[in-house]
Amino acid sequence: MSERRVTKGKVKVFSNTTEPGVVGQIKRAWDWRHREPIELAGTVARKVWRRGDRFRMLPFPQAVHIEITNRCNLKCVMCPHPTMTRTQGQMSEELFRKIIAEISGHRLLLENVAIMGLGEPMLHTDFERLVTIAAEAGVPNLYVSTNGTALTEKRAQRLVEDGALGRLIISLDGATKETYEAVRIGGRFDLVMENTMRVLRIKRALGRRKPVVTLQILTMPRTRHEIDEFVSRWEPELGDGDEILIKEVDTFGGLVDDLRLDAEREPVQRIPCRMLWKDMSIAWDGKVTVCCKDVYYQLTVGDANTQSLEEIWNAPKWNAYRRLHTSGEWDRIHPCDVCREWYV
Ligand SMILES: C[S@@+](CC[C@H](N)C(=O)[O-])C[C@H]1O[C@@H](n2cnc3c(N)ncnc32)[C@H](O)[C@@H]1O
Ligand code: SF4
Repeated sequence: MSERRVTKGKVKVFSNTTEPGVVGQIKRAWDWRHREPIELAGTVARKVWRRGDRFRMLPFPQAVHIEITNRCNLKCVMCPHPTMTRTQGQMSEELFRKIIAEISGHRLLLENVAIMGLGEPMLHTDFERLVTIAAEAGVPNLYVSTNGTALTEKRAQRLVEDGALGRLIISLDGATKETYEAVRIGGRFDLVMENTMRVLRIKRALGRRKPVVTLQILTMPRTRHEIDEFVSRWEPELGDGDEILIKEVDTFGGLVDDLRLDAEREPVQRIPCRMLWKDMSIAWDGKVTVCCKDVYYQLTVGDANTQSLEEIWNAPKWNAYRRLHTSGEWDRIHPCDVCREWYV
C-alpha cells in the first residue's frame, strides 16, 4: 500500500485514517515537493485517466510489491511472518528481470515499486544487484523496508554510492534495547542502531540524498511511551530528505492480533476496498495476489512466470473479486472478510 503521510518537518505520522478534507489535501500536496518530476507527472496522469472515478481501471497497477524473498531472521510480535506456512525461498534473477521489463514499460502511471513483501529483503543473496537492475530499467520511486540486521558497512556503502534505491525504510520499533528486543524478537538493538547510524554517516560523508532514509517506529502498547525519545534520539542524525515515520500498527488484514492503540474505536461503515484497483503483489515464486496485506496468498489470481502482469491485472478471477467488493459482498472472500485495513 502506498503511504499517505502527514508531515511535521522531518517527522511524519502515517495513519490508516488520513486527515480528511481540504487541510489534509493541502498537507499531502505540500509533501509532493520532494517528488521527482516523473512522479508528479504520474499523479496528474492517473487523475486524468480516472476522470474523478476512483474505481476506473488503470491499464496497469499503480503500485507493485515484489517479494524478492520471504525468508526472515526475526520473529516480530506484530508480524504474520512467524505463522506463515508458504514455502520459503528467493526470487530468481530471470523472473525479476521479466517483471521489471514489463513494469518499466508503464512508468508514467506507476506510483512506486517496493522490492519487498513478507520477509527480509536484504537476505536475498543478490539484493543490491536486483536494486540496480530495477533502477537501470528506469523504474520510478523504488523503495524497500529492512529490519537493518544485514545492513553491513559494505552493503551500506554500495547502496549509497549506487544511488539506485529511492527510499530505504529501516524498521526500528523502539528507542531502548529493552523495548526493541521485546518487539523485534531475534534482533540485536546495538547492531541495528550501529548499522543505521553508519548508513546515515556514509550518506553525509558522500553528500548523497539517495536513498532517502526513513526511520520507522510502529505505534503499539509496547512502543507508545518511547515515541518522543525515539524522535529526539534520531532527528538530529537525519540528512537532507531523511525522515522519521511514526506509523500505526495494523492487523495485517486481520492476520495478526490487534495491537492498535485505538482498537476499541467505533467501527466505521465499510466500503469497497480500492486496493484491488491499485496494487499488485508478487511473491518470490511468481504467484500474484490482489493486495499487499494478503501475505498468505489466499487470493492468488495468477503466475508471473507464465503470464504477463497486464494479463493478470485483467484476469477474470481478479475482476470477480473486484465485483464482490463493488456489490458489498467482500465477506465472501478471505481475508477481505476479516480485514481492518481496507483502503479508501
Ligand atoms: C513485513 S515487513 C518486511 C520488511 C522487513 N522485514 C522489515 O521488517 O522492515 C514490511 C513492513 O511492515 C511493517 N509491519 C510489520 N508488521 C506490521 C503490522 N502489524 N502493522 C503495520 N506494519 C507492520 C514492518 O515494520 C515493515 O516496515
Ligand atoms: S516485520 Fe520484517 S523482520 Fe519482522 S518478522 Fe516481519 S518480515 Fe521479519
